[in-house]
Amino acid sequence: LFTRAWTFSRGSPGLDHLPPDDRPEIAFAGRSNVGKSSLINALVGQRTLARASNTPGRTQELNFFTDPNADLYLVDMPGYGFAEAPKDKVAAWNKTLRSFLAGRRTLLRVFVLVDARHGLKPVDDEIMALLDGAAVSYQVLLTKADKISRTDLERVTANTTKSLAKHPAAYPRVLATSSETGMGFEDLRAVVAKLIDA
Ligand code: GTP
Ligand code: MG
Repeated sequence: LFTRAWTFSRGSPGLDHLPPDDRPEIAFAGRSNVGKSSLINALVGQRTLARASNTPGRTQELNFFTDPNADLYLVDMPGYGFAEAPKDKVAAWNKTLRSFLAGRRTLLRVFVLVDARHGLKPVDDEIMALLDGAAVSYQVLLTKADKISRTDLERVTANTTKSLAKHPAAYPRVLATSSETGMGFEDLRAVVAKLIDA
């Protein structure tokens, strides 16, 4: 599954260029700059598969990645919330990603990425409510855990876990990750492997 054979399959700016829904998909959602593209790269062990950058608004399409050894798409998404891009563009991404998250038949799980320094924001709650309403299973991953102390990480993990209680479609376990240090990726790979297996 994590054989470093992942390749870019297709990018879809709207919902009109999606690949056929013929296999399970795992999508990575979150606010702009939270570390979605970096996390996908760290997950598959390929530094340059998904394009990451310090400028919020880097990923501008739904990007689908495949591996010949896996019957699965990994989907990198544009960020929601603040992005350094024109307003009408951001509005279009938001519309696209919301429709995709709520309506994609083959979505196996959505990972909702949250910056460990900031915790859940109102816009994350909105996205989670959308997923609750569509009965799409999702799990929260804290990102950039290397940027805060252990104590702060424990606190934000506990607070985030507590907030999930009011979200019926949320998987209760919050994973803390760092794409820089590799923290949390053993657990994350196990979660993904189990999902595919099931
Ligand atoms: P958009 O595509 O713009 O929505 O952003 P994104 O969520 O894909 O974020 P991206 O992966 O491009 O990362 C944004 C910035 O955060 C980059 O400068 C990354 O190097 C940095 N970053 C991502 N993950 C980590 C991490 O775990 N630790 C640290 N220290 N920096 C990270
Ligand atoms: Mg990105």
